[in-house]
Amino acid sequence: MIETLYSLTIIFIDLIFEVTTCYSKSRDYASHVRLVSCLNGKNHVPIFDNKVGYPTSSQRCKRQKWLHSEDQALRYQCYSILNFQTHIVNIQRIVSSPPGRQRLYTLGKFLRNRYSSLLPETYHFHDVNITSSDLDRTISSALCLLGGLYLPQSYDEDPSCDIVAPIIPVHSINMNNDMWIMFKKDCPKYAAELDNMRLEKYNETLALGMSFVYTYLTKYTCQRIASVTDVNRVHTALLTQKEHGYPPPEWATGPQYPQQQIEYIGALSFYARAYDHVQKRLAGGPLVTKIIDSMVAKRNRSLEPDYKMLLFSGHDTTVGIMLQTLGYDKLVKPDFGSSILFELHSIHNQYYVKVFFKPSGFSNHMIPLQFPNCHLPTICTLDEFIAVNQPWRISLEEWQQECAI
Ligand SMILES: *[C@@H]1O[C@H](CO)[C@@H](O)[C@H](O)[C@H]1NC(C)=O
Ligand SMILES: *[C@@H]1O[C@H](CO)[C@@H](O)[C@H](O)[C@H]1NC(C)=O
Ligand SMILES: *[C@@H]1O[C@H](CO)[C@@H](O)[C@H](O)[C@H]1NC(C)=O
Repeated sequence: MIETLYSLTIIFIDLIFEVTTCYSKSRDYASHVRLVSCLNGKNHVPIFDNKVGYPTSSQRCKRQKWLHSEDQALRYQCYSILNFQTHIVNIQRIVSSPPGRQRLYTLGKFLRNRYSSLLPETYHFHDVNITSSDLDRTISSALCLLGGLYLPQSYDEDPSCDIVAPIIPVHSINMNNDMWIMFKKDCPKYAAELDNMRLEKYNETLALGMSFVYTYLTKYTCQRIASVTDVNRVHTALLTQKEHGYPPPEWATGPQYPQQQIEYIGALSFYARAYDHVQKRLAGGPLVTKIIDSMVAKRNRSLEPDYKMLLFSGHDTTVGIMLQTLGYDKLVKPDFGSSILFELHSIHNQYYVKVFFKPSGFSNHMIPLQFPNCHLPTICTLDEFIAVNQPWRISLEEWQQECAI
């Protein structure tokens, strides 16, 4: 039996709020060369002046009106959260974290190893199309991954060697039009559904006796934490802080810190995004449709150019929503650098699809997704795969119509 890997689609997550760039103009392709030389920590700009502790400058902190606690200790603890908020708002000022870049670089290396028979080592424009949401951090994440995918092995052995990194274009989708990756295109029906679902999930956590989590986080972050999304935001800020090598604030350690509940609620906030049929169709549908259409075109040889690999640089929400739309039934908060891989195989002119969730950028562990209606749970023929996902396939016109309230 000759099995050939025919094509591949990968959706992966950007790193962190604090992004992946060593430079500010992420669309300046020349900077790709510099980017890869940062991967080993060169040109690395420290995030804070004070490398080991929390930021010492209280300037920004004081400007926050709502941080009026007289309690110095509490104020100090609040700062660590606040600082990330500032980053979220002002992405331009953010500099990089080496583990962040390395996660994607490592993912790129993983793809190079696994798919070396599919993808030539030298970049050619008709092999791969990379599409990103229109944010510096996702575009930069894509560049980091491409570094891992296309830089020769000798680079790792001697990063100072005189290798010129390939120049690889990254497409981005204008945010106002983005119904595939960042879900920013206006869809009133989905927005209403999401509000309602978040409330429902919040109610669920209260019914489970978790109201103390909201009280706890409200107290220590000095912000009103009153929804599953709020809890997730705090949780993500803490993870980001950890990613950068900063110790957690005291209130986020020890037995009194409700870590399990926070993780649960954080994951619920993703679950709430594509929980019911309408949400799956309006949020997950457009990307599922794009992927299926490209596989169908690949099969009938009408894909133009005849790409071997499609890459989508997205977000935790992109991966979360896709997983749920595809029927993955575990509660997950997708980690930085995680990805979903869609493989199209051809065996004797018959086409098969396998889908994997790769939960970490660093580990090679892959979880095959199960499709109960396919002839094998983890392998569908392309036609079975199309049938399974038929409820989510949606044209642009249908999407526009169904989004109206
Ligand atoms: C690459 O993908 C983007 C969006 O996914 C698309 O707009 C663009 O036309 C593709 N590039 C080519 C050359 O097909
Ligand atoms: C959530 O609970 C509130 C208060 O009990 C109730 O008014 C509301 O209808 C509930 N919402 C959902 C979506 O379950
Ligand atoms: C190939 O598939 C595309 C997308 O479904 C379709 O529009 C096109 O007509 C097909 N072409 C052939 C030659 O079957």
